[in-house]
Amino acid sequence: MAKDTHTPASGLPPYFNIDPDAALADLDAPTSTEGFADIANACAQGRRDLASRGLNEEGRKSLRLFSTWEITRYLIPVAQAHFRRVLKANPDLPQGSSETEGGAKWFTLDEVLRLRAHFAAQGSKAKNYLPYRPEGLPAKLVAVANFKGGVGKTSTAAHLAMSAALDGYKVLVVDLDSQGSMTSIFGGRVEDEWQTAFPLLARHYGEHLRADNQRRLDRGEAPQPLDESLTAAMEMTAADVIQPTHWPNIDLIGAQLNLYWAEFQIPVWRMAARGWKLWDALTDRLEADGVLERYDLVFIDTPPALGYLTINGLAAADILLVPLGASFLEFDSTGRFFDMLHSTFASIEEGENIAARALGREGLAFEWDAVRAVITRYDGAQQGELSALMQAYLGRTLSPHKQDFTALIGQAGEQVSGIYEADYRDFNRETYARGRETFDETYAAFKRLLTGIWRRDELAEV
Ligand SMILES: Nc1ncnc2c1ncn2[C@@H]1O[C@H](COP(=O)(O)OP(=O)(O)OP(=O)(O)O)[C@@H](O)[C@H]1O
Ligand SMILES: [Mg+2]
Repeated sequence: MAKDTHTPASGLPPYFNIDPDAALADLDAPTSTEGFADIANACAQGRRDLASRGLNEEGRKSLRLFSTWEITRYLIPVAQAHFRRVLKANPDLPQGSSETEGGAKWFTLDEVLRLRAHFAAQGSKAKNYLPYRPEGLPAKLVAVANFKGGVGKTSTAAHLAMSAALDGYKVLVVDLDSQGSMTSIFGGRVEDEWQTAFPLLARHYGEHLRADNQRRLDRGEAPQPLDESLTAAMEMTAADVIQPTHWPNIDLIGAQLNLYWAEFQIPVWRMAARGWKLWDALTDRLEADGVLERYDLVFIDTPPALGYLTINGLAAADILLVPLGASFLEFDSTGRFFDMLHSTFASIEEGENIAARALGREGLAFEWDAVRAVITRYDGAQQGELSALMQAYLGRTLSPHKQDFTALIGQAGEQVSGIYEADYRDFNRETYARGRETFDETYAAFKRLLTGIWRRDELAEV
């Protein structure tokens, strides 16, 4: 029998006495470029397998139902008995369905939203059944960013989008990460870059070229031709790239690998037209296409890099959230991220303002309603000291709520993404309540920020 080098009986550490011939016997052939395709293929098959579990007949994600307990506990805070009485008295309202005769009633989110509207119209005025949004003011854009990978950007953005939707806001999610994690979470289908934010950016550049060409013609110069893809983009609006999701009040602009192409294309465009304000592209197009009226909140998930797409997302944002874990390396790296944000935006402002000053025009100054670092995956038993230090140095910039590490995240497969999509009956009640509480608190801290900002805008209007 071959000697088992993994569990030496000698009590030596596992990395001693590895037999070269035994190691060779375990080894496979070297990997070629094609090898990557094989691995990618294996992953894609595994993913399809996971994805097919629990999809509906059309092969799309579907959102679970909500029980009377959950609705009255988390969504429409009234006593269960009162809730039942109101339903009985109003047979036109959704009545829910039950799995067994006389069993608990379950409702779709659409039905919950209709019920909430009813309670808001008829119920006690002391409770805010509907979330606050001042009339006539545009949607708020929220970017979640950090150039450090794996800090919880996508999880935070997805959970905030879902809690805002449960709270009754109309939400658009924009995935600017070509990894497409957010797109997977929301069951998006994206064939190529033409179904991502890319054509919106392209159109913004195209509009700039057109205006520029008009000036050229006026000066008697030859116009710069728009290439085929720019010409195609000129016909496209946000509505062409927005897709519905399995959440009735969350829509998506998805991403996939080809979106990465924008990182190469944008600097080429900018070289060709130095006057193009690339950082305004996303905001301008969303605004021009009426998106900021149609939604209450726009959440932008960004890749773990400070590339052109991230810059666009950051410049579009009213609120910037920067997730990070309470570990030395994440704190350190996040400090550098803020340093990079400073130099990047300062250099854009400087470049613009030299020209603006020369022309006697008002300069460019970026402004965010609020910037907050958010501690994610927090382990109170291990990270108390470091988080207290972060609090001491970051002050108000650090969001007051630390999002706990919870086993409820990241375990679920393709069908269920995170705590709001999970059925509480699948978990120990206490585990569920704790996991949900930490994300509810994350949302509460965000909503407080949002409410304050909207109120500030509202008061500035009058
Ligand atoms: N509160 C939490 N508790 C437990 N696990 C978490 C929590 N938040 C995030 N995670 C897990 O941490 C990992 C990284 O999270 P996520 O993908 O959200 O990070 P990210 O910053 O978007 O990553 P990337 O930089 O690759 O885009 C995931 O496996 C996720 O499930
Ligand atoms: Mg991510």
